[in-house]
Amino acid sequence: MAKSKTQSNVLPMSEVFHPGIETYKQVYNESLEKPDAFWEKQAQVLDWFQKWDKVLDESEAPFYKWFPNGKINASYNALDRHVNRNRRNKAAFIWISENDEEKIVTYDGLYLRVNNFAKSLKDLGIKKGDRIIIYLPMILEAPVAMLAAARIGAVFSFVFAGFGAGALAERMNDSKAKLVITADGFQRGGKMVKLKDIVDEALVQVSSVESVVVVRRGRNDIQMQEGRDIWWHDIVSRKQIYVEPEWMDANDPLYILYTSGTTGKPKGAVHGNGGYSVWVANTMKWAFNPQEDDRWWCAADIGWVTGHSYIVFAPLFLGLTSIMYEGAITYPGPDRMWELIERYRVNLLYTSPTAIRTLMRYGEKYPEMHDLSSLRVLGTVGEPINPAAWKWYYDIIGKSNSPIIDTYWQTETGGFMIAPPLGLGLPPLKPGSGTFPMPGVDPVILDENGIEVAPGEKGFIAYKRPWPGMFMTLNNDPERFKRTYFEKFNGMYYCGDYAIKDNDGYFWLLGRADEVLNISGHRLGTIEIEDALIASHEVAEAAVFGRPDKVKGEVIVAFIVVKDQYEQDGEIVGKLRKKIRADLGPIYVPEEIHVVKGLPKTRSGKIMRRVVKAVALNEVPGDISTLENSASVEEIKDAIEGFRREASN
Ligand code: WT7
Repeated sequence: MAKSKTQSNVLPMSEVFHPGIETYKQVYNESLEKPDAFWEKQAQVLDWFQKWDKVLDESEAPFYKWFPNGKINASYNALDRHVNRNRRNKAAFIWISENDEEKIVTYDGLYLRVNNFAKSLKDLGIKKGDRIIIYLPMILEAPVAMLAAARIGAVFSFVFAGFGAGALAERMNDSKAKLVITADGFQRGGKMVKLKDIVDEALVQVSSVESVVVVRRGRNDIQMQEGRDIWWHDIVSRKQIYVEPEWMDANDPLYILYTSGTTGKPKGAVHGNGGYSVWVANTMKWAFNPQEDDRWWCAADIGWVTGHSYIVFAPLFLGLTSIMYEGAITYPGPDRMWELIERYRVNLLYTSPTAIRTLMRYGEKYPEMHDLSSLRVLGTVGEPINPAAWKWYYDIIGKSNSPIIDTYWQTETGGFMIAPPLGLGLPPLKPGSGTFPMPGVDPVILDENGIEVAPGEKGFIAYKRPWPGMFMTLNNDPERFKRTYFEKFNGMYYCGDYAIKDNDGYFWLLGRADEVLNISGHRLGTIEIEDALIASHEVAEAAVFGRPDKVKGEVIVAFIVVKDQYEQDGEIVGKLRKKIRADLGPIYVPEEIHVVKGLPKTRSGKIMRRVVKAVALNEVPGDISTLENSASVEEIKDAIEGFRREASN
């Protein structure tokens, strides 16, 4: 593979930021040389009810078992132990809404709410091992519901509140959820999202759900179905209730989180109670070095893995104080984020390159309106960060005083894999590189044949050994788990990214090597959008791909063939947009939908998405010798040219 030019640009930083990486090196080496002793020690960041038999059981690889027979409870570790020690009155969350409502909940307050809701879940018949869906906006009931489920051993699957009814129903069905927790509605960017209506629509396609608990948040009109729907405030008592935490096996599932792949429906990544918890707590310390009195703001949504691991579990395990913000970062104005940082004196900020690029577009005057001097560490996640955005974040937001912690990881990895190890000694940073692997992580860069490439060459990133935060399986589909992640490189974990390791050993994560999309740091499947398009009766064929975008990283482009009888329908594109929005959710709506007469296909009739993409992006389409209908290529070119002409007028 071709050499890349990304290795320049070592940023001169003052000594303060890189006290040397001797400690990191020592810890990292120890983690690989004596993994059992190492993890034995790291696992003690949490309280266990019963010790494990061994650190790692590899007998059924790739179904690795960390800390087998160890007994633990995530809610206990997030709450009870802080309440029992000296963090009873410490703020767990400082919650703010778009309209500046504010709630501060202490560890004791959260403990009370979680115990109460755990009791409510039990009263509704939810038992250890039952599956529940949480479909909530960024309100305090979200972490309360997650922790209450964890407390009684119910397995939750959080569905991002931006998903539509089809996506929601699919997740309910795959997880066989008995109960759904949702809200009537919520405000985002000044508009009301009617969440409960979406749940009602999804439930038409689902038979496993017996009850729906509804938080009153939007105060919009909703239908409550007798015998099924219950208000949260009607079932939660305000008394001191104590629910004994279940002793969960380290390898009992904690949650299922769905994520997109290259084929088929979304995959339910299953995370366990033990290894995952050890992983998120330690990685947060290693990468961000949070201190007792810090205020941490992870500006992701709880519905994505970033929110699971670094809004809810890791910060609470470590007893930290988090800012939790319900709303858009540009509402009511483009200085919203900076205003909140000033007002709440945020010390550690964690956001996405898309957010940075979005805010960067408004110019420096907005951050300059605010005192950002409380900031000490700036994190990013979700997609590669381009050096220009990195530098803006570093110079304008951090005033060249805060290191940028570019964390590379995935839903499946549970927590950070590659990130500057600030807690162990920060290396000199290079804008756009996540620097080095976290302790216990052993990455290699391979070519198509599984041979390690030379430093500076681009290849596929894979991992030579498991780490505690690794997902345990795919819900309902252990075969797909093996096939998707462990087959390509002979048992090593591989999940679809290109990377480079440069001559200094720095890792550069370059994004997806497959046809999975990354829109604003969110992983979406081309196949899901194509399926939704084809599911509408007007569409005969569809090819979806990502076009590079300066702000969002990528935007969605669709080419469709319309069935003969609908060809004259001038409204078709608008209708399809609406349908995708309702079915999959607003983030899935293509930026461009082009109607063409035919799509390039192989002789066996397979649509060549790769060719559509290359032609539309004005790239060389590669081998098209197997192409059946070459006229379609010209048509794609014409469609794109026409579109660009119109757009520039
Ligand atoms: C994909 C995982 C990890 C939480 C949010 C996304 C891309 C993630 C980085 C980064 C370059 C990154 C990868 C990865 N990605 N972080 N710092 N630099 N690329 O989780 O939805 O599971 O998506 O996001 O392509 O495979 P996810």
